[in-house]
Amino acid sequence: MALTVRTLLIVACASMCSICRVTSVITSEEVSYSIDEEGQTNELVGNLVHDTSLRDHYVPQLRFNYLSIQPTNFAVNLTTGVLRTVGRIDRDVICPNAERCTETFNVGVLLDSRVIQMIKVTITILDINDNSPHFPETEKLLEISESLIPGRKFLLPAASDPDSPAFAIHRYELVSPSNKFQLREKTKANGLTELHLVTTSLLDHELESSYRLRVIAYDGAEPPKSGSLNVSVIVLDANDNDPVFEQETYRISIYENMDVHTTIVQVHASDLDSGANKEIVYGLTKYGDLFGINNNTGEIYVKGVVDYELADIYYIGVTATDRGLDSRSAEATVVVEVKDVNDHSPEITVNAPGTPGTDVAEVSEDSEPGMFVAHMKVDDKDSGSNGECNCTLADNKFRLEQLVGTNYQIVTSGELDREKISEYSLALQCVDGGVTPHVAVKNFQVRLVDVNDNAPQFQQVTYRANVVENNNVGDFILQPNATDADAGKNAEVVYSISEDGQAMFAIHNVSGRISAKIVFDREENGEMHFYVIATDKGIPALSASALVVVTIQDLNDETPIFTQARYSFNVSENEPQNTEVGTVSATDADQFPFNEFLFSIVPDSNLLGLFSIDSRSGKITTNGMLDREVQSVFQLIVVASDYGSPIKSSTADVTIHVADQNDNTPIFTFPGKHNNTIQMSNRSPIGLVVTTVNAFDLDTGSNSWLTYRFSGGNDNAFFTIDTNSGAISVNIEFKDATYEMHEFTVIAQDHGFPQKLAEANLNIFVNKSIPYPLAAKSGSVLTGQNFSIAISLAVVSTIIILVLVVAIILIRRQEREKMQQYNCRMEALRKRTNKMTHSSDGKAEKDGKALESTKQKSKKLPYEIDFTIEKEDEKKQFQSDTNKSRYSKVSGMHMQL
Ligand SMILES: *[C@@H]1O[C@H](CO)[C@@H](O)[C@H](O)[C@H]1NC(C)=O
Ligand SMILES: *[C@@H]1O[C@H](CO)[C@@H](O)[C@H](O)[C@H]1NC(C)=O
Ligand SMILES: *[C@@H]1O[C@H](CO)[C@@H](O)[C@H](O)[C@H]1NC(C)=O
Ligand SMILES: *[C@@H]1O[C@H](CO)[C@@H](O)[C@H](O)[C@H]1NC(C)=O
Ligand SMILES: *[C@@H]1O[C@H](CO)[C@@H](O)[C@H](O)[C@H]1NC(C)=O
Ligand SMILES: *[C@@H]1O[C@H](CO)[C@@H](O)[C@H](O)[C@H]1NC(C)=O
Repeated sequence: MALTVRTLLIVACASMCSICRVTSVITSEEVSYSIDEEGQTNELVGNLVHDTSLRDHYVPQLRFNYLSIQPTNFAVNLTTGVLRTVGRIDRDVICPNAERCTETFNVGVLLDSRVIQMIKVTITILDINDNSPHFPETEKLLEISESLIPGRKFLLPAASDPDSPAFAIHRYELVSPSNKFQLREKTKANGLTELHLVTTSLLDHELESSYRLRVIAYDGAEPPKSGSLNVSVIVLDANDNDPVFEQETYRISIYENMDVHTTIVQVHASDLDSGANKEIVYGLTKYGDLFGINNNTGEIYVKGVVDYELADIYYIGVTATDRGLDSRSAEATVVVEVKDVNDHSPEITVNAPGTPGTDVAEVSEDSEPGMFVAHMKVDDKDSGSNGECNCTLADNKFRLEQLVGTNYQIVTSGELDREKISEYSLALQCVDGGVTPHVAVKNFQVRLVDVNDNAPQFQQVTYRANVVENNNVGDFILQPNATDADAGKNAEVVYSISEDGQAMFAIHNVSGRISAKIVFDREENGEMHFYVIATDKGIPALSASALVVVTIQDLNDETPIFTQARYSFNVSENEPQNTEVGTVSATDADQFPFNEFLFSIVPDSNLLGLFSIDSRSGKITTNGMLDREVQSVFQLIVVASDYGSPIKSSTADVTIHVADQNDNTPIFTFPGKHNNTIQMSNRSPIGLVVTTVNAFDLDTGSNSWLTYRFSGGNDNAFFTIDTNSGAISVNIEFKDATYEMHEFTVIAQDHGFPQKLAEANLNIFVNKSIPYPLAAKSGSVLTGQNFSIAISLAVVSTIIILVLVVAIILIRRQEREKMQQYNCRMEALRKRTNKMTHSSDGKAEKDGKALESTKQKSKKLPYEIDFTIEKEDEKKQFQSDTNKSRYSKVSGMHMQL
């Protein structure tokens, strides 16, 4: 066949060759070959030189090349143009079941690397029947029930053949020993075939229980090739008899609460079929939770709790089913009557209004007896007397009242007080009437609702607190505590304080904590009283109060203060030791013991130790005799110090005046012992003062007021004496006398008590040789009365001035050092005392003696301050003479002290 096509093509091409050459354009030529599949590798297909126009002008330089694609199953020798197969070609793989199977490609003819011609090569691969029809499995088992109606289709696997349609499957054939089956083919849209086995008439298991069939597939070749499938058909038996129960209805009666697994009845069914169709399986249709059945034996047993109270009769459906295919079954009824047993306790339900869902009822504590508390109901599921109950409540505050049937109410039966018992636990008890009775007990709580019937109560009637003065604001004072027996808001206490305490104290209204609002001063207010009030939050609110006494405790914050800044005392001289001078006193606003003092005298103000002070009473006494004529005024500094820590103290000045006593006798300065005679002229006129007697008294006042008189010698009253001045004047004419001596005793007397007097002898010599009036030189005394007085005054004055000057110089010299020291101490002492008072340093006072060593320049003698300038200068001299001995005596005494 190939040869004929080739020949034809060559002829066609040859006729066109002239055109090719003439035009010398690239010409195109087609060449077709056909080749059988399954040939040898390298099998020659054709020669592109011989089979085309090339053969006429072939030159060895011609070459070939593929244009566009390269063939897969073929190859052209690019030098010779010989076309061969590349491998073994299987058309059923390249184009399975295809009608045509070709491969086309273009080959270029090259001369000197130039394409001069194109050849389109078409190779048709021709099929050979190299495959047989093939079934996917070789055996197929079909089980077909005998009861099936004819015409049922059973799918069989179809065969396949990969050859081209001409050699593919053309028909099936059923090889069967009977005519009960047919094959039915159906070609589907996708070209595949569905193969069914169809029953054509009833099968009978009893006649033929199985068939062996064979399905053969043929392809289209001549002779055809074939494949086969063995089909085994098993005819199955049908179940055509129902099981039958022995009884349609079984009746039994049982007690409730039977033990689980107790068999109560056995049912039985039978089946006329044989084999599995005869085997019976029992089952229950209802109450599977309460009853069970042995599916093999038909024994019905108790599976759950059979409760009379739930149902007293059960209709149980029992099934009997055979084990056959399309199993058949029958049903019977088991009627189970349940008998009651007293198996239930009464059930108590309590319903309290207001608190649903709890077992607690609430009732106000002020309820009258008979007040409804809760509703109670009792239920017993048992029947008859088993379900009849008798209920009781044992309590003296509550009782049970039957309402209707099994309904009761709980009511109060006595007075209630929440503060005594706030909650009752009631035990309700119900007993049923069974032979062995069941008892139910229900505990039920009754809570009393509070009524604000209790006032808050303080735990103390009076609260006392001590606070030290000079506290801080906010300091804790005390915390009274009030409780309220009520509950809830009725027991919540709010604290406050009465108006009289509000200025000084603050209170926390919840905790009751009282604190200071001010700084307290005990000296101002030592004790405070007010009320603390506790009020509850009930409606209406109740309240209570308690007295709070706050005592302010003392701190030594006050300085002792003398009742006078300066004291002035008089004490008489010459009094014995321990004579009272006076008493100083002080006050201290502090309390005991800070208001007790210790009095003392600053030692430096009492250098001579003449005074002492009683440290407790402040009484100042003398330490020895005082002599006003030595020192008439003393200045002391007294200290009052308290016992606090630190010590507080203050000082006061005490001035002591020494009062005079008449302890000094007048002393005559003239006439003296050796100077007691005067001379006068016998012509002295009456009234002429011839001399003046003079005495002094160291005392003062009337004690030193002297009067003079004659005590003897003037019996004839020749002379008169002036009582106050002591001036003696002439009382008679002495013209006749020449030389006369008159002797007198003169007395100087003071006015003290007792009176003291001094006597002196005075001689007046009347001399006629003394001129009167006095001459210019010495007789002037005698010239006249006035002249002689003037003379005598001048002489006396001169002498006194001289004596005084000498005396002062002496005193200054002797006493300067001593007095300087003394004054120095006094000065230091004053300064120190001031300091001490201001610094309030208690210890400083004790160290006072150390200051004695401090030396400072003095200005004045202590007694100089009060040294009165007396008219009688002699007195001063006398005093300065006697001072030395007296002070040394007193000083010695001081040292001893
Ligand atoms: C082509 O043919 C020549 C001559 O027969 C040969 O020598 C050469 O091997 C061939 N080429 C191929 C690729 O087979
Ligand atoms: C029958 O009862 C037995 C045991 O309870 C069980 O194993 C079996 O599956 C039951 N058979 C049927 C068919 O219910
Ligand atoms: C007050 O008294 C009650 C009862 O005694 C007590 O429980 C409470 O703690 C007290 N409160 C204070 C602040 O003392
Ligand atoms: C002390 O004496 C003076 C005069 O000597 C007198 O004035 C004064 O009143 C007296 N004081 C007392 C307290 O006796
Ligand atoms: C004696 O006393 C008188 C009178 O006082 C006086 O003038 C006279 O100088 C005194 N004579 C002597 C020696 O003291
Ligand atoms: C009397 O006075 C005169 C003159 O002064 C004197 O000389 C004479 O001594 C006096 N007589 C006597 C006795 O003293």
